[in-house]
Amino acid sequence: MKKGATIYLYELAWILPSIAIPVGMLSALLVTAFGAGIHVPSDAGRVDIATLGQKAPFDKLGLVEIGPLRYEVRMIGQIWTFGENEIHIPAGSTVTFLATSRDVVHGLFIPKANINVMLLPGLLSRVTRRFDEPGEYPMMCHEYCGIGHHLMGGKIIVDPRS
Ligand code: CUA
Repeated sequence: MKKGATIYLYELAWILPSIAIPVGMLSALLVTAFGAGIHVPSDAGRVDIATLGQKAPFDKLGLVEIGPLRYEVRMIGQIWTFGENEIHIPAGSTVTFLATSRDVVHGLFIPKANINVMLLPGLLSRVTRRFDEPGEYPMMCHEYCGIGHHLMGGKIIVDPRS
């Protein structure tokens, strides 16, 4: 084998993966974003902390029925509570969580429902999930928010439909 050919193959062994890996990553990104509809949780708007609790959607807190098997859970996170410790919904419900924080950065983490959003003062977080399986879905704060952080939690209870 000529010496030049060996160098060419050696370079190719680096060049091809350096093209294939970014192309593969970009493809995975496009498939998950546009094919599977998976997006990074993003803020759904702004809320005024000064009037929190007076204006929609936070003028009425907790579980709000907005249609047949359609609910909103409106929560204001503050040290060290979501305001709601236990939320009952019937199985098959589609629930939109609307949440924000009154004071510091909190998080809303409901692992069994694949919900993981940050609650930031002044920003509205919105996430929608369908709850088909009856049972308890623990929810907890997953951003360290002070000495009572570990106490900040609650649960969604999905009741079987009779
Ligand atoms: Cu709220 Cu940690």
